[in-house]
Amino acid sequence: MGSLSERIGIELPILQAGMGGRLARHELAAAVSEAGGLGTIGILEPAELAREIAASRGLTAKPIAVNLLLPFARRAHWEVAGEADVVVTFWGAPRRRTRRTWLHQCGSVDEALAAQRAGADGVIAQGVEAGGHVRGSVPALELLERVKSALPPDYPVLVAGGIAERDDVRHALGAGADAVALGTRFLLSEESRAHPEYKRRLLDARETVLTELFGAGWARAPHRVAWNDAARHWLADGPRGPLAIRLFNAVASPLAARMPARLQARLAAMQRPSRPILSPVSPADDAPPILLDAGPLYAGESVARISQIRPAGALTRELAP
Ligand SMILES: Cc1cc2nc3c(=O)[nH]c(=O)nc-3n(C[C@H](O)[C@H](O)[C@H](O)COP(=O)(O)O)c2cc1C
Repeated sequence: MGSLSERIGIELPILQAGMGGRLARHELAAAVSEAGGLGTIGILEPAELAREIAASRGLTAKPIAVNLLLPFARRAHWEVAGEADVVVTFWGAPRRRTRRTWLHQCGSVDEALAAQRAGADGVIAQGVEAGGHVRGSVPALELLERVKSALPPDYPVLVAGGIAERDDVRHALGAGADAVALGTRFLLSEESRAHPEYKRRLLDARETVLTELFGAGWARAPHRVAWNDAARHWLADGPRGPLAIRLFNAVASPLAARMPARLQARLAAMQRPSRPILSPVSPADDAPPILLDAGPLYAGESVARISQIRPAGALTRELAP
């Protein structure tokens, strides 16, 4: 990854994507970083995020990133993020708000150019194959090529979406990526904090769907999930989800997004597969198990090729070409 990896201080061109909703925490991030990649702690409430960064420092002396989702990042999040080595942002208008190395994940050439103009130290081109919330609308390597040709030749461009094996990494680097970011592959690691049954279901999953169903709290934000009871119940007539649910989500989201995390978690516990209020809260290992059937099982298309839960450090080393 040339000068960017030197600047960050990582040996391998492997980033573990930040996964919010309590899925990617210090154990995962530290394991990836300790193995020579860059581990990322997903967004949490600021006080908890600070504790997670501190806990990761107890496990590794290597660099650690945090991920901030711009629609939810408040001033206190930015202050805490300054304790990490790298800040990776996603979703919405990019603006420099940290002195740390800053990467912005983008779904289009326009967004990549906006991030570069705003002073980002690099961009991550996210393809439509990606799991979780999806900004990209074309395959990752296609977006990589478009973004690279729009930006100066030495500007760092990373790629995310559909990368799960060493050959995928090799292709991406061969296509000019400075490094790769992986979410789904690292979700299926021993250290991720996804509920064990969420992991087990993803090992069996062969198909995903790009939908707007789980949008009560974050509307108009397409996300890729594996099928479960809620998805089967509501998506029979089309992948985006019923118009009435999408309209409700658009109206309710500004309010829901301002609710304290504890209240959001209490409401998520009341979700049922056939009730039309479906939040983005996913089944982490400390979440109510009903979310396995009534919440989003975020996963990328690569889930079809993943058959084992592995230690994140070993994965990091094996992925590097
Ligand atoms: C379970 C899950 C949760 C995610 N949560 C976030 C998040 O909180 N912030 C973010 O920037 N990206 C998030 N993403 C998207 C990743 O940043 C990345 O784009 C994606 O995982 C790449 O595709 P892949 O899943 O095929 O590796 C998430 C992805 C997954 C699978």
